[in-house]
Amino acid sequence: MADKDSRAGERYANREIVSFCDDIHLGDSTVSRAAFASPEQENMPAIMVGLSEGRLLGLLSRMVGARRIVEVGTLAGFSAIELAGGMHADGHLWTIENDAKHAAVARKNIAEAGLENRITVVDGDGVEGLARLEAEGPFDVVFVDADKGRYDQYGRWARTHLRPGGLLLMDNAYLFGRLLEDGPAPAAMRRAHEEAAAHLHSVCIPTPDGLILAIQPDTD
Ligand code: DHB
Ligand code: MG
Repeated sequence: MADKDSRAGERYANREIVSFCDDIHLGDSTVSRAAFASPEQENMPAIMVGLSEGRLLGLLSRMVGARRIVEVGTLAGFSAIELAGGMHADGHLWTIENDAKHAAVARKNIAEAGLENRITVVDGDGVEGLARLEAEGPFDVVFVDADKGRYDQYGRWARTHLRPGGLLLMDNAYLFGRLLEDGPAPAAMRRAHEEAAAHLHSVCIPTPDGLILAIQPDTD
């Protein structure tokens, strides 16, 4: 067992501080603001990652020199557009979405961002969609933000299809505060944590709902 962090769970930030920092760092220039706003406008659930998390995804994609990215769970395309913003000019991102309306809204946002040739929205179930994308790999980044009860399966797929040094990112790692409860979804999410820690270099970043960040080790 790791030593306990005596400050774990403490928060110095409040809404005012977070907005002050977001105003400075995010400005108003991002191409993905339309995608960020569209779930609410289109009567879809507004459950995408936050603006600063979107920026983080783009920076991480840039840091690993990403050329091939897979996302599970598109919603309106906000995180896909952010991830693609950090990708090489000749890169490609595939994002899997099981809801036809969400996929249609995402395609529109992606086209408006001028990224229709660099992002493919794959219709269908996450696990089946990943199986169809196997031949496009190995991947530089896999971002999971989909049905929480299958995060363990998504994590295993990522380990098999990430290049050495590639990134596995998983949103909602605290499972809306239910991570330690009984039931299949908390158990699957705990397995996703345990397996990322066992097989990759991993950490859970304390974003509002937790973000697993894990690096595929180099093969020796
Ligand atoms: C939900 C899903 C998400 O991925 C998220 O970040 C927040 C909420 C949901 O299904 O309610
Ligand atoms: Mg999420």
